[in-house]
Amino acid sequence: MDNFQKIIIIDFGAQYTQLIARRIREEHVYCEVLPFSSPIQTILDQHPAGIIFSGGPASVLDPDAPALDPEIFNCSVPILGICYGMQFTAHALGGTVEKAAQREYGRVSVTFDLSSPLFHHMHPTSCVWMSHTYAVTQAPAGFTSVASSSNCAFCAMQNPEKQIYAVQFHPEVTHSEEGQMILHNFLYEICHCRGDWTMSAFIDNAVLSIRKKVGPTDRVLLGLSGGVDSSVAAALLSRAIGRQLTCVYVNHGFMRKGETESIRKVFTEQFPVNLITVDAGQAFMDKLRGVSDPEQKRKMIGSEFVNTFSKQARQQANTRFLAQGTIYPDVIESGSVKGSAVIKSHHNVGGLPEDVSALFTGGLIEPLRMLFKDEVRQLGESLGLPADLVWRQPFPGPGLAIRIMGEITPEKVDIVRESDAILREEIQKAGLGKTISQYFTVLTNTKSVGVMGDERTHDYVLALRAVTTDDFMTVDWAKLPYEVLDSISSRIVNEVPHVNRIVYDITTKPPATVEWE
Ligand code: XMP
Repeated sequence: MDNFQKIIIIDFGAQYTQLIARRIREEHVYCEVLPFSSPIQTILDQHPAGIIFSGGPASVLDPDAPALDPEIFNCSVPILGICYGMQFTAHALGGTVEKAAQREYGRVSVTFDLSSPLFHHMHPTSCVWMSHTYAVTQAPAGFTSVASSSNCAFCAMQNPEKQIYAVQFHPEVTHSEEGQMILHNFLYEICHCRGDWTMSAFIDNAVLSIRKKVGPTDRVLLGLSGGVDSSVAAALLSRAIGRQLTCVYVNHGFMRKGETESIRKVFTEQFPVNLITVDAGQAFMDKLRGVSDPEQKRKMIGSEFVNTFSKQARQQANTRFLAQGTIYPDVIESGSVKGSAVIKSHHNVGGLPEDVSALFTGGLIEPLRMLFKDEVRQLGESLGLPADLVWRQPFPGPGLAIRIMGEITPEKVDIVRESDAILREEIQKAGLGKTISQYFTVLTNTKSVGVMGDERTHDYVLALRAVTTDDFMTVDWAKLPYEVLDSISSRIVNEVPHVNRIVYDITTKPPATVEWE
């Protein structure tokens, strides 16, 4: 990403660090996150247009508090400290940080000094999101306070001569009414960014760098799972190197209705690549016969997937590179900011056997490595992938198999697949597709008595699951309108054989999880 102007975000361990990064990118400025332990030279080697210090849970007064070499303040690069970042700045430069008389948490009304470039185009007073126990009580020499609340004299401070700015609150969260403007001002009024981070510039840049890496006769192999990331990676690689790309799509037989066909269509007609589809449904079903333990199911599907993919990979003797759809949160969360060694050809695959990895002498190609999920979707749209693929809801690697309680049989797979298709149709018809984060059906291992026509039935109980969430770490169950539940229920019991009762899962996560297995 050397062609883009860059902001470096120093992560002091805040829960909001990725959010800061996303907000910066929304302003069309590229940014990367580095850990606070990074040597100064590593930061400067990136030639940042500006540096942002994130918040963090520690207190700067602790002897082993996270810190960066204070030489950073003499590097003539504009700095914005946020929350802990402000306290670190004050402490390192000789100001005073103390435990606040009153802890501030939540919305707080703040008065801004509009002459500060950080607060241009803002209202004199607006609400911000605070979350701190410690506060700056005396600014370092050369700094002045440029925002205050009834509780806190230093809600923001600046030293314009040294281009150092800091805020005690969180401009990155939407509760801070004019937070985005503050970030915008830092980028454009203080760092003088050009705003060169656009999807079309990213595509041009990525296509060139892929072509530079992959010679005209080299081949690249990609494991296509049908998920957003691997599909977008395949589309981008197809744009760059066309049929030099071979995609292996392992159909384990647990995909949703119509998915395999649509993947095949996209990657043969719209993005013509060398597509190898392995219809391994029978092999997976054979392996799973008699297995009902959830973990065992997952493990068996994972290892059978690796075996199937590896077999294909071994047959691609002249293939130099392995591509995968790793995205930026995976990179940040794995803690490695340089070169990941983990090979992820599928969600649930820990890694490929060594002899298979060794086949790819050119190494890994991860064209989405620096993108957030929302950017991957934007990229998919810019490349022209169909909306249903780009906006696909999360889907577990083992697919419908972990939505069937107990032993898996072809009949049970048909029940979940058909009922899932009906649920999806009804949710779309009701216009709720974008408001619910994930929805699916689960086949319980229970049968109940019912009556159909004049006949007694003894058939399956099927559960509906629909959740809302921002991050899938915690979820709420979706409050679906009764009429929608009604039409889903009556369609499923009428159209899907062997289901005579529908229940709705009304548990949050925690204590439940999203998936049932
Ligand atoms: P749980 O059930 O753990 O799920 O609350 C959280 C989110 O992760 C998805 N999920 C998976 N995604 N591979 C994936 O890529 C998996 O094996 C897997 N299992 C669960 C789940 O659908 C939900 O969105």
